[in-house]
Amino acid sequence: MPISKPTDAVERHQPKYDPATIRALVDYVASLPGFTGPDIPVVDIGQASLPRGGVLYRLNCAACHAWSGRGGALLHRESPPLDHATPTQIAEAMRVGPGNMPVFGEAAVDAKGLDDVAAYTREITRHPADRGGFPLWHLGPLPEGAVAVFLGLGILLALARVIGTRASEPAEAPEAGST
Ligand code: HEC
Repeated sequence: MPISKPTDAVERHQPKYDPATIRALVDYVASLPGFTGPDIPVVDIGQASLPRGGVLYRLNCAACHAWSGRGGALLHRESPPLDHATPTQIAEAMRVGPGNMPVFGEAAVDAKGLDDVAAYTREITRHPADRGGFPLWHLGPLPEGAVAVFLGLGILLALARVIGTRASEPAEAPEAGST
């Protein structure tokens, strides 16, 4: 549903209706004359291809929802994180294009592509393959680099200061008259 203030960040809430009521509402609206909306996609992530999902995700979704599915990116209207969306909701969002999100029709992503993207999105949001070190909230390479530079540089500067202070202490001058 559209949010009341377009400048607000999009946040996920508990649905106000139970699943049976939502289903009944969907069936009713779909039965109205002139209704042309897409069907709710049937998603099967059991047979999905993660590599293909990754290619489609990076091509079509990462620009707004970030490489890690954490969302962000849009000016004044951040795209939401995807970690709580179910596979069906991911496929629905692609076919419907809620709010500022574009619609991905059959020509852009076929039915198998929906499965692949849904599977890949779940993989990166629920079981991200961290290669070690601190994940840093999966903010991405730029903040990671910034942390590495500033933290690393900070430690090096502190070290240089400690060493520098010791070395710059004035050496004791020989006493006058001594041999
Ligand atoms: C141009 C930016 C943009 C692109 C590209 C985009 N999205 Fe979105 N997406 C959004 C925005 C903005 C919303 C929130 C819409 C709203 O509710 O007003 C959203 C919402 C969603 C939601 C609902 C999330 C939730 O928890 O309610 C899902 C799921 C989703 N997108 C998946 C995808 C997938 C998968 C792709 C790639 C095929 C994609 N999006 C591409 C901007 C984008």
